[in-house]
Amino acid sequence: MSSSGMRSPTLRVGIVGLGRLGRRHAENLMTRVAGATLVAACSPLPAELEWARDTLALPHLYSDYAALLAHEGLDAVFLVTPTSLHPQQIIQALQAGKHVFCEKPLSLDLKDCLRVSAEAARHPQLKLMIGFVRRFDASYRDAYNKIQQGAIGSPFMVYSQTCDQYDPDGFFVKFAATSGGIFLDCSVHDIDLARWLLGNPQAVRVYASGTRAMHRDLQQFQDVDNGVAICEFDNGSIATFYASRTTRHGHDTMTEITGTAGRLTVGANPRSNRVEIADIHGVRNECLPSFFERFEEAFLIEVSSFVDAIRHDKKLDLTLVDATEATRIGIALRESLLSRQSVLL
Ligand code: NAI
Repeated sequence: MSSSGMRSPTLRVGIVGLGRLGRRHAENLMTRVAGATLVAACSPLPAELEWARDTLALPHLYSDYAALLAHEGLDAVFLVTPTSLHPQQIIQALQAGKHVFCEKPLSLDLKDCLRVSAEAARHPQLKLMIGFVRRFDASYRDAYNKIQQGAIGSPFMVYSQTCDQYDPDGFFVKFAATSGGIFLDCSVHDIDLARWLLGNPQAVRVYASGTRAMHRDLQQFQDVDNGVAICEFDNGSIATFYASRTTRHGHDTMTEITGTAGRLTVGANPRSNRVEIADIHGVRNECLPSFFERFEEAFLIEVSSFVDAIRHDKKLDLTLVDATEATRIGIALRESLLSRQSVLL
């Protein structure tokens, strides 16, 4: 019984994808997540499997996803694979009776989101969560709780940005081949946050624009390295998003929520710690280099919450409806960027 999580007190997990983020999840699952143990990994790249063998001492390594799913006694899979693979891999895992954690976004295609939802509905005993990690960050959670308690009155506007540090090696250009573009890859976090913080409204109209300030090669994927967007919701609230791949000072994620009685800001200064340097250049602090340092603790809490939900059969706060809405809005932003028109949803 790999589905209920009750036969074994410890959840036996297989990870799929050992790239930039997969390795981090693998390390967390191996050593830092109570109630789970990493028993197998899958990657098509021999070098990644070698890393898992040498660094994690993982004995069960697969180059084929179906073989990993057939691994005896596996309870859950973690999909940290290119986004274009998510829907089919989720469906295969559900059909194999596994709980599924899948990295964001759920899909780049709305029909695929609905296919996944239909399959999930056929397996109500299995948990499926899409990793919108910011919901598990202590500061975002505090902001959410404060809004629930009425601290800023009725929230009506969100500004949210995800700005990655400039990478001269061209990672973002290669990544754009499967990421779905800057809005579906980066702003999808801000979209999910905005809906969560504004009380889950439905998007009704979006407008997006962007530029290729430094990564000109993104043109081949019709992508941009800096994008801005406005999203109007059915309850009258609005959100603006900014995503960048060219930030020079570091990774800069921040969100501002304005309400009828005040404003909350999360992450206004992307400082790496509390050290401030004062010298002939002025007063400054160093910045976090990447999303991982910013959300390191949140990634752990996110995975622990998922594991806990399976082991104690708890309801997940993050639903497939949320993940589908994030994709729906992300697709509309991309459509608007390409058409230069506002898009009605
Ligand atoms: P990556 O390109 O570094 O890694 C992708 C991994 O998938 C590699 O290990 C690759 O070998 C593996 N892979 C490719 N094809 C496969 C197949 N057919 N079967 C099994 N494995 C396969 O990408 P990265 O940055 O790790 O992103 C992976 C996912 O995580 C994406 O969906 C991305 O959106 C998401 N992500 C989420 C973040 C967050 O803040 N929550 C941050 C970064 C990425």
